Amino acid sequence: MNTLPKTCRFIEFQDLSDQRGGLISIEKIVPFEIKRLYYLFNQNKDILRGRHAHKNLEQIIIPIHGSFDLIIDDGKHKSSLVMNNPKQGLYVCPMIWRDLTNFSSDAVCLVLASQCYDEADYIRNYEEFLYATQ
Ligand code: TYD
Repeated sequence: MNTLPKTCRFIEFQDLSDQRGGLISIEKIVPFEIKRLYYLFNQNKDILRGRHAHKNLEQIIIPIHGSFDLIIDDGKHKSSLVMNNPKQGLYVCPMIWRDLTNFSSDAVCLVLASQCYDEADYIRNYEEFLYATQ
């Protein structure tokens, strides 16, 4: 259950924190040009977000505050990850189904994305996703 799909990996960011507090820098480490970023906050604890895969989009998912669970699925294996370390993000390649849930009340999830928003890039039907990954 918890082995990451081969194509997904954690990326460690540059940690510039000192006695004054935390400071993380993200440069020269993202494997795509960032065209968009968005963030989730004020999520209800039991809400289920995501519920889709992307055909071409690459993303890095970062728990910049608080925690949430991220379930990623390549069509053959699922991994359930507790996302609570703002010093690293999960690189998620195309054709990975993702669910996000169990948000702490203070959770902020930042997503770096390789493309602008395009609904045509989404697969929102799980059966269709499974069919495409066989
Ligand atoms: P949705 O895909 O349901 O969010 P999540 O996958 O995080 O649960 O997106 C909610 C709505 O916002 C949907 O109508 C698409 C729109 N949207 C944009 O217009 N731009 C964006 O960058 C994102 C992420 C969503």
